[in-house]
Amino acid sequence: MKRIAVIEGDGIGKEVIPQALKALEALDFRFERVDLEVGYARWERTGTAISDEDIETLRSCDCILFGAITTPDDPDYESVVLKIRKGLDLYANVRPIRPIAAISGAVGHKNFDFVIVRENTEGLYSGIEDIGDDRACTTRVVTRKGSERIAQYACKLATARRKHLTIVHKSNVLKSDKLFLDTCRQIAEEEGITYDDRLVDSMAYSLIATPWKYDVVVTTNMFGDILSDMSGALVGSLGLLPSANIGNSHAFFEPVHGSAPDIAGEGYANPIAAILSAKMMLEWCREFKKASLIEEAINQTLCRNIRTPDIGGNSTTTEFGDAVAEYIRDSF
Ligand code: NAD
Ligand code: IPM
Ligand code: MN
Repeated sequence: MKRIAVIEGDGIGKEVIPQALKALEALDFRFERVDLEVGYARWERTGTAISDEDIETLRSCDCILFGAITTPDDPDYESVVLKIRKGLDLYANVRPIRPIAAISGAVGHKNFDFVIVRENTEGLYSGIEDIGDDRACTTRVVTRKGSERIAQYACKLATARRKHLTIVHKSNVLKSDKLFLDTCRQIAEEEGITYDDRLVDSMAYSLIATPWKYDVVVTTNMFGDILSDMSGALVGSLGLLPSANIGNSHAFFEPVHGSAPDIAGEGYANPIAAILSAKMMLEWCREFKKASLIEEAINQTLCRNIRTPDIGGNSTTTEFGDAVAEYIRDSF
């Protein structure tokens, strides 16, 4: 039985994760549950958002199901998400971008299916900063080892898909990206994967204009962050994109979206990203049948026109979650 940490987090994290847990319960997926309160609310109460001890607790678990956490505008605050990613060395951030049949995205395309594989431990998220009153500096780190392992992950994924890799970079300006590009090219050759590369600015255009051209997209940390939220417009809402942070022995599953303070507490957040993150967790646990039933339940619920306002409906978060769990129970 897997030992799984559950972190609801802040804002809508507290609303969407219970829906994902309901789906897991309906599937009779049994696990040893470790609830952990970390994040902004705890920081306000205690002055600590996440401790080293919490990281050890997470290390004792197989994986983590996570909602979202609010980041305050305070220089002393340490990002919980980054501490977990670095602490457990979760180097691959995997963000599948696929249409959902019953939902129209902003551009109207339906024929795309790509995965953004984002390097998750270095780049502009190195944490190496020198902040003064008149000059603030963040060091962007690209290493051969970091680039090799993310390229290997992306190539392995491409092997199980359409076998094509697109390397996204800005090596015309950032010399650090030349190392990323060359390393990814070398790994793709070694792994027998066809590849091309794109500068990140024109890639942003191309992902919206011609997304069907892409299979696996590998890129550095912050470019992957931005391109993945942008791709949410193709699918139809930020509330639809799941993600997995994968390491050699641990994994952490979370929606791509944040804590959405503008709608938190209203009960209308879209839980699909959280429920699909639980689906990715089931796949990581090799529970493939249960994973595909989750997807079917989401599609069937949307077809019954149960949907939250961000995708044109007026259902609540809980109504959607209940309908998904009910469908699962009825077909299990
Ligand atoms: P956000 O993703 O929280 O929200 C952006 C917009 O999308 C908002 O209008 C919001 O209402 C909408 N939205 C997001 N998720 C939705 C959902 N499930 N259903 C319906 N609408 C949804 O991004 P932001 O506003 O830039 O950031 C808010 C806070 O979240 C910040 O403190 C940020 O640091 C944090 N954040 C945390 C994570 C994380 O914990 N993994 C990820 C991203 C942002
Ligand atoms: C994400 C988030 C995080 C990131 C923040 C909360 C640190 O935006 O998971 O996409 O920038 O990676
Ligand atoms: Mn992001």
